[in-house]
Amino acid sequence: MSVSASGADVRGMFERIAWRYDRANRLLSAGVDVLWRRRAVRLLLAGLGDSPQILDLGAGTLDGAIEILRQRPAARVCAADFARGMLAVGRRKKGAAQVAAQVADAHALPYRDGVFDGAFSAFCVRNVRDLAGAARELRRVVRPGGRVVILEFFRPGRRRLFWDGLYNARVLPLVGRAVTGDAAAYRYLPASIAGFITRVEFEARLAAAGFAEVSGSDLFPGRVASQVVGR
Ligand SMILES: C[S@@+](CC[C@H](N)C(=O)[O-])C[C@H]1O[C@@H](n2cnc3c(N)ncnc32)[C@H](O)[C@@H]1O
Repeated sequence: MSVSASGADVRGMFERIAWRYDRANRLLSAGVDVLWRRRAVRLLLAGLGDSPQILDLGAGTLDGAIEILRQRPAARVCAADFARGMLAVGRRKKGAAQVAAQVADAHALPYRDGVFDGAFSAFCVRNVRDLAGAARELRRVVRPGGRVVILEFFRPGRRRLFWDGLYNARVLPLVGRAVTGDAAAYRYLPASIAGFITRVEFEARLAAAGFAEVSGSDLFPGRVASQVVGR
């Protein structure tokens, strides 16, 4: 089966791989995805007070939401994702009881304007159907002066021999298929990176959605993942 850019396909894919998603992540990133989230959450929470209200958008199996609570135990964390199965896997995890997880689509979030002090989103925005619309939704639900931190695999400005030519093209589909049994999902992952926009282009989209200050940086190793901060 192929996975197109349609929301239903993407949701169905995450529903199918939900129970093996974490294992594939840890293996494919050699555990570095945990460090990326930890670092991005630290950046998000800096200066947001002791009990901020935070949204984790495309929260999946709740690793980001749980990390927010680990770093700021009095935070009030809402987790939104349109794949019920991903949230269900997350709900079984230690620390998830305090997370208000809700099935919701990034294009039409069920939250009031400006209700969040900050928002976090890891590896979700590459999958949304209407990026400009989702960015506007994110801007709408975060209060003026609040902050968003997006963690993502953006299309590299220049093709990287090891990461694009070997790892993403060959290793990732093989390992992803072996762990989840889902070949299409792990063909979709590198294809979605290659078909996405660059970090700099994404920063411009956030600015167009109304974020006044936007900055981004690439992360170790190999600038594979990047984080973008919007205020
Ligand atoms: C690669 S996973 C990332 C999960 C989690 N944030 C993490 O760091 O592991 C992407 C998640 O985004 C969700 N997602 C994709 N498009 C979405 C949309 N339009 N609305 C809500 N969730 C979406 C998927 O269901 C999936 O759980």
